[in-house]
Amino acid sequence: MSEAWPTIETHAARLRQTQLLDLFTAQSDRVSALTFSAPHMIADFSKQRIDAAVLSAFAKLAETAGFDAWRSKLFAGETVNNTEGRAAKHWALRANDAPAEVLDVRAAMNAFAQRIRPEIDAIVHLGIGGSDLGPRLIADALRSSRHSKPIELRFAANVDGADVDDAIAGLDPDRTLLIVVSKTFTTQETLANAEYVRAWKPKHIAAATAAPDKAVAWGVPAENVFPFWDWVGGRYSLWSSVSLSCVIALKDGAFDVLLAGAAEMDAHFRDTPFAQNLPALSAVVQMWNREALGHGSYALIPYMERLRLLPAWAQQLEMESNGKGVTRDGAPLTRSACAVTWGAAGTNAQHSFFQLLHQGADQIPVEFIVNEGAHEGPRTHRALVFANALAQAQALMVGKNAAQARAEMIAKGMNTEDAERLAPHRAFRGNRASTLMAIDALKPEALGALLAFYEHRTFAQSVLSGVNPFDQWGVELGKEMANQLLPALKGEALPKDIDPSTAAWVDRLR
Ligand code: F6P
Repeated sequence: MSEAWPTIETHAARLRQTQLLDLFTAQSDRVSALTFSAPHMIADFSKQRIDAAVLSAFAKLAETAGFDAWRSKLFAGETVNNTEGRAAKHWALRANDAPAEVLDVRAAMNAFAQRIRPEIDAIVHLGIGGSDLGPRLIADALRSSRHSKPIELRFAANVDGADVDDAIAGLDPDRTLLIVVSKTFTTQETLANAEYVRAWKPKHIAAATAAPDKAVAWGVPAENVFPFWDWVGGRYSLWSSVSLSCVIALKDGAFDVLLAGAAEMDAHFRDTPFAQNLPALSAVVQMWNREALGHGSYALIPYMERLRLLPAWAQQLEMESNGKGVTRDGAPLTRSACAVTWGAAGTNAQHSFFQLLHQGADQIPVEFIVNEGAHEGPRTHRALVFANALAQAQALMVGKNAAQARAEMIAKGMNTEDAERLAPHRAFRGNRASTLMAIDALKPEALGALLAFYEHRTFAQSVLSGVNPFDQWGVELGKEMANQLLPALKGEALPKDIDPSTAAWVDRLR
């Protein structure tokens, strides 16, 4: 355990019971002191239960964890993924001086997009996990940057056949491009879906993969196979050919602008000292809430319909990266490296699970994101969105005590007895932490920067925890067992040594 932790824990004991509002009284410039900026975004941590002493204790933790050295290793292309013996160079896919092989594939994707657009009305993108969530998010987020030729873009990931059935329903195979997206080109779900759609005979088939030979062997014309490389992790791959469907569906150049925005965030993360480094500071807040204050999850709430898929993308990024039980060297962790990520778009989320955020017994920190730039749709809605986002953060912090609740009810004409009975139900403890972030526009460059921010925050958190964020061995056991159960579910004998519960269910379902 780093020697910084006892100090952090002392601060946690001091601040755990502190009223957030008192922190503003104690420090008149708290909002500006705890608001940090990076390309295309800012984050205000003033409603988090932190202060300068906490940040400096974490700076010490970063020092003992070798933060500067690990960051340099990442950007030098060294083997930061020690269990798979690989570099993690997703940043190179968007670098101004990207390797020639990257630029070649990007040029080929742009040329393919221009050639194929007139020949198709629809794209069916098949992939799962990192081969699905990023492009799905980009396509949804950048709807207003779509190409003028309308192309229906459908995604299917789930091996529940309804997904792939929906994806092709009503489309004309002669006017459809199937894109099979799989880094390994071995993923069971993607291949099962791809075989089903191939049998439907789409006129055009392409693939994005780090195993081009497998894609060609499967039947994709070699000239339509767009490679990426094993130094791009699945959940970090949206910057590669994995987003071919978006390159086609978006205006020419929009994807390049997304990459440029991400490169701006890379430069910020690479070159900014820890004390001003937004992804690193945000990682501190995540770790402080999870480890020092013991909050097991946080809610990610973009107040943007176009970013409704952000929580799903961030779930894979954060939990597949840092959901680990051992350090880089294989020693058991003494602290968790990762909170549960969950969330949905506001304002919709207010009308579902915000009840629990405001009055539930557990405190769950919230991360709000608003768009400071132009909004689509009716002009009057902009103020409504902001009022709601700000009010939720305010209500979480300020709350309303029982006496206030009682007085309000009496003022509205309720009798004292009923007001007394209802007051505990209508009171809010408040003192609940949140971060408020803003992007400067919902445009490709800002989206690129925002997604790169989350990638670097995840990396910074992994360094503070000492885990390798670039492997995902935890997904393997279930895959192996599914393959072992498959024959039995198709009618063959049960595997030997199967546990009684699974055996009973196989029996029931086959
Ligand atoms: O099962 C997890 C995982 O390996 C993810 O890391 C990855 O994004 C996803 O499966 C899809 O893998 P592939 O791109 O190789 O089909």
